[in-house]
Amino acid sequence: MLGLCVSLATADAYADPGICLECHATQVAAGGHATNLDCVLCHEDRRPGRVGRRHRAVPTSCTGHHAVETHPPVGPHLRPARLQRSCLKCHDAHGSENAHLIRTTIRTRGRLIAIDFRDPAAFVDAARPGRGLCEVCHTTTKFYRANGGKTHFTGDCTLCHDHGDAFAPVATDANCAVCHPDEAARLAKPTRHNAKVRGDVQQLPRRGEPGARTGASRDGELRGLPRPGTRATHVPPGVRIPCTQCHEPHGSDNIRLVRDVIQTTVPGVARPVDFTALTGRADGSFASASTPGTGLCEVCHGRTAFYRADGGRMPHYATSCVACHPHAVGFAPD
Ligand code: HEC
Ligand code: HEC
Ligand code: HEC
Ligand code: HEC
Ligand code: HEC
Ligand code: HEC
Ligand code: HEC
Ligand code: HEC
Ligand code: HEC
Repeated sequence: MLGLCVSLATADAYADPGICLECHATQVAAGGHATNLDCVLCHEDRRPGRVGRRHRAVPTSCTGHHAVETHPPVGPHLRPARLQRSCLKCHDAHGSENAHLIRTTIRTRGRLIAIDFRDPAAFVDAARPGRGLCEVCHTTTKFYRANGGKTHFTGDCTLCHDHGDAFAPVATDANCAVCHPDEAARLAKPTRHNAKVRGDVQQLPRRGEPGARTGASRDGELRGLPRPGTRATHVPPGVRIPCTQCHEPHGSDNIRLVRDVIQTTVPGVARPVDFTALTGRADGSFASASTPGTGLCEVCHGRTAFYRADGGRMPHYATSCVACHPHAVGFAPD
C-alpha cells in the first residue's frame, strides 16, 4: 500500500469503486462480501479528492445491517475498536475462502490459528479436536475446548446455538426433536392434535383408514375438534386419574390419542394397550374378548365387579361402554 498522501485535480476521481483496487488489491479475496457491494458503500469518503492515511472511513458497526449478536456477547454499541474485537474476530468483510466470510485465521491468546470452514457444517474438527472454529478460543467451556476436552451434540451447532443470541443455546421448534426424539416421532403420526397444530388437514386419515371417524370428511375432522370441557377425567372413589395417564397428547398408534402403554393405578405397572376401535368388549377396544383383563378399561381395575385386570368378571354389557359410561362424567355409569 502507498505510504503517501496525494492531492487530486478532480475531487471525484477516486470515488469510482473500481479505482480503489489500484491501491488496495489485497482487499478482494475469494468469495467476497456480497459481491455487488462497492467499496464506497462501506468506506465513506473523509477527505474527498485525496488518498492516504484515513482518507476513507472504516465501518464502525455491522449490526446496522445484520440482526445477529456477536460472540461472546458485548454491549450493544460496537465502536470501531470493539467492532474489530468482536464481529471481525470471526469474519473478514472483504472476503474469505471459508463459508460465511469466516476468517481463514483467528487470533486467540496472542496466536493466529488457521481455520478451515470451507464446509459450512465444519464447526468443530473431529479429526483434530480443539482446532475447529467453535473450539479454538474456548478455554473454560464445558464442551469443545481448544485443548480438545468433552464433546456434546455433534450435529449442526447452530440448531441450538443461535447467532441471533450470541450463540447461546436456545430452544426452538427446530431443535426440540434433537433432545426429545420420542415426542417428535409421536407428533409425526397422523392425529387430530397434529393436524390442528400444523394446520394440516391433508394428513388426517381418510374415511375407512385407521383412526378415521366413520362418515367424517377431513374438513369435518378439523371442525369437529372437541370443545374444551366436554370430557371429564376418570375419578373413581378416592382416585383422580390425570388425563395424561390415558392420553398421550403428542400422538399414538391408538385412536383418540389413547396411550399405547398405560401406567396402571394400583399396582403401578406399565401395561401395553391396543385401542383401535370403539366397539365395546372386543379385541382392540375397551375390554378384550380373547384375553380378558388386557383392555383399556380393564388394566387398572382390581376391585370392580366387572372388567378387572385379573380377567375375573361377572357378566356385563359388551356393547360400547361410553354409551352408558360417558367420558363427560368421567366414565361413571349414567
Ligand atoms: C492512489 C491510491 C489509493 C486509492 C486509489 C485508494 N486508496 Fe485507500 N488508502 C490509500 C493509502 C495510501 C492509505 C493509507 C494506508 C496506510 O495508512 O497504511 C489508504 C487507506 C485506506 C483505508 C484505511 C483508512 C483508515 O482509517 O485506516 C480505507 C478504508 C481505504 N483506504 C479505502 C479506500 C477505498 C474504499 C477506495 C476507493 C474508493 C480507496 N481507498 C482508494 C491509497 C489509496
Ligand atoms: C461490507 C463492508 C465492506 C466492504 C464492502 C469493503 N470493506 Fe474495507 N473494510 C471493512 C471493515 C469492517 C474494515 C476493518 C477491517 C479490520 O479491521 O479487520 C475494512 C478495512 C479496510 C481497509 C483498511 C486496511 C485493513 O485491512 O485494516 C482498506 C484499505 C479497505 N477496507 C479497503 C476496501 C476496498 C478497496 C474495498 C472494495 C474492494 C472494501 N474495503 C470493501 C468493510 C468493508
Ligand atoms: C464466534 C465467531 C463469530 C462471531 C464473533 C460473529 N460471527 Fe457471524 N457467523 C459466524 C458463523 C459460524 C456463521 C455461520 C453460521 C450461522 O449463520 O449461524 C456466521 C454467519 C453470519 C452471517 C450470515 C452470513 C451468511 O452468509 O448468511 C452474518 C450476516 C453474520 N454472521 C454477521 C455477524 C456480525 C454482524 C457479527 C458481529 C455482531 C458476527 N457475525 C460475529 C461466526 C461468528
Ligand atoms: C473468537 C473466539 C471464539 C470463537 C471462534 C467461538 N467462541 Fe464461544 N466463547 C468464546 C469465549 C472467550 C467464551 C467464554 C468462555 C471461554 O473463554 O472458554 C465462549 C463461550 C462460549 C459458550 C458459553 C457461553 C455462552 O454464550 O453460552 C458457548 C455456548 C459458546 N462459546 C459457543 C460457541 C460456538 C457454537 C462457536 C462457533 C460458532 C463458538 N463458541 C466460537 C470465544 C469464542
Ligand atoms: C441440541 C442442541 C445443541 C446442539 C446441537 C449443540 N449444543 Fe452446545 N449446548 C447446548 C445446551 C443446551 C448447552 C448448555 C448445557 C449445559 O450448560 O450443560 C450447550 C453448551 C455448550 C457449550 C458450553 C457452554 C458452557 O457454559 O460451558 C459449548 C462450548 C457448546 N455447547 C458448543 C457446541 C458446539 C460447538 C456444538 C456443535 C458441534 C454444539 N454445542 C451443539 C445445546 C446444543
Ligand atoms: C438441549 C436439549 C433440549 C432441547 C433442545 C429441548 N429440550 Fe425439553 N428438555 C430437555 C431436558 C434434559 C429435559 C428434562 C427431562 C427430564 O426431566 O426427563 C426437558 C424437559 C422438557 C419438558 C418437560 C418439562 C417438565 O416440567 O417436565 C418439556 C415439555 C420440554 N422439554 C419441551 C421442549 C420443547 C417444546 C422444546 C423445543 C422448543 C425443547 N423441550 C427443547 C432437553 C431439551
Ligand atoms: C381412563 C382413561 C381416560 C382418561 C383418564 C381420560 N380419557 Fe379422554 N378418552 C378416553 C377414551 C377411551 C376415549 C375414546 C372414547 C370417547 O371418545 O369417549 C377418550 C376420548 C377423548 C377425547 C375425544 C378425542 C377425539 O378424537 O374425539 C378427548 C378430547 C379427551 N378424551 C380428552 C380428555 C381429557 C381432557 C381428559 C382429562 C380431563 C381425559 N380425556 C381423560 C380415555 C380417557
Ligand atoms: C389408569 C387406570 C384406569 C383406567 C385406564 C380405567 N379405570 Fe376405571 N377405575 C380405576 C380405578 C383405580 C377404579 C377404582 C376401583 C378399582 O381399583 O378397581 C376404577 C373404577 C371404575 C368404575 C367404578 C367406579 C365409578 O367411577 O363408578 C367404573 C364404572 C370404571 N372404572 C369405568 C372405567 C371405564 C369405562 C374405563 C375405560 C374407558 C376405565 N374405567 C379405565 C382406574 C382406571
Ligand atoms: C347399557 C349400559 C352399560 C354398558 C354398555 C356398559 N356398562 Fe358398565 N355399568 C353400567 C351400569 C349401570 C353400572 C353400575 C351398576 C352396576 O354395578 O351394575 C356399570 C358398572 C360398571 C363398572 C363398575 C363395577 C363396580 O364394581 O362398581 C365397570 C368397571 C364397568 N361398568 C365397565 C364397563 C365396560 C368396560 C363396558 C364396556 C365393555 C361397560 N361397562 C359397558 C352400564 C353399562
